[in-house]
Amino acid sequence: MQLVNKVAIITGGAGGIGRGLTTAFVKAGAKVLFVDVSAEAGRSLERELGPAAQFLEIDLALPEAAATIRDAALKAYGRIDVLVNNANASTPAPLLQVDDANLEQVFHSSFLPTLRLMQVCHDALAVAQGSIINFASGAGLSGDPNQGSYAAAKEAIRGITRVAANEWGPEGIRANVICPFALTDGVRWWSEAYPEQAAHALSIVPLRRIGDIETDIAPAVVFFASDASRYITGQTIMVDGGGIKMR
Ligand SMILES: NC(=O)c1ccc[n+]([C@@H]2O[C@H](COP(=O)([O-])OP(=O)(O)OC[C@H]3O[C@@H](n4cnc5c(N)ncnc54)[C@H](O)[C@@H]3O)[C@@H](O)[C@H]2O)c1
Repeated sequence: MQLVNKVAIITGGAGGIGRGLTTAFVKAGAKVLFVDVSAEAGRSLERELGPAAQFLEIDLALPEAAATIRDAALKAYGRIDVLVNNANASTPAPLLQVDDANLEQVFHSSFLPTLRLMQVCHDALAVAQGSIINFASGAGLSGDPNQGSYAAAKEAIRGITRVAANEWGPEGIRANVICPFALTDGVRWWSEAYPEQAAHALSIVPLRRIGDIETDIAPAVVFFASDASRYITGQTIMVDGGGIKMR
């Protein structure tokens, strides 16, 4: 029970990796305010997990979403110890076809909500000596083909995470990035749409398998949410079976 007495906000917490994170955080003893656009999935997970998890249906693209989410977490559980910026929506496209709509989809679902939530949760995180965990991607680090807008948003998230680590470290707030590789519906779709890229991505994984959300990815995120990682900030951690080695 590494997260007893901790309160977490998890974005995109009703689907994919986020669903596994919400479940794992509750199992680790946390109380979780999880948000998503997917109302049905969110409500069913809320019923499954009971009073330790509260679902808020909201579109993170709305500028007022961040303050609404912070206020809902404080109203439900009284404090914010952990902010997990996991949500993302993006559409692959060759760089020559990246247009405003393509950029807006990913920046409005990932980068901007990440920045805004970090800003509005800053004071509560300072009180709690809290931890921010942002999600980026090996696709950004490697510059994968067809991932121009996604790579831009994800690398921007890594940039502000390092700035937060430097600016807010003296106040006791940590900020780290996780780059996962896990089997989700989106990854299944990508594997079918881009079979050669998917085969290559798996071929460079020394552990020779794609990660499982609950047993491979969630334990790493729980670690960064917990006091066990209290001397780690400003880092990007690959939870990808070793496909990319950060230097
Ligand atoms: N799955 C992987 O292997 C992989 C690899 C690299 C990076 N990532 C990153 O990990 C994170 C989770 O990925 P995933 O595969 O679980 O994605 P996913 O698409 O399966 O789930 C994303 C969740 O975010 C929600 N969401 C999207 N836009 C939203 C919005 N505007 N408002 C509220 N909720 C919104 C979706 O409804 C969904 O529940 C993402 O940041 C992704 O970029 C995943």
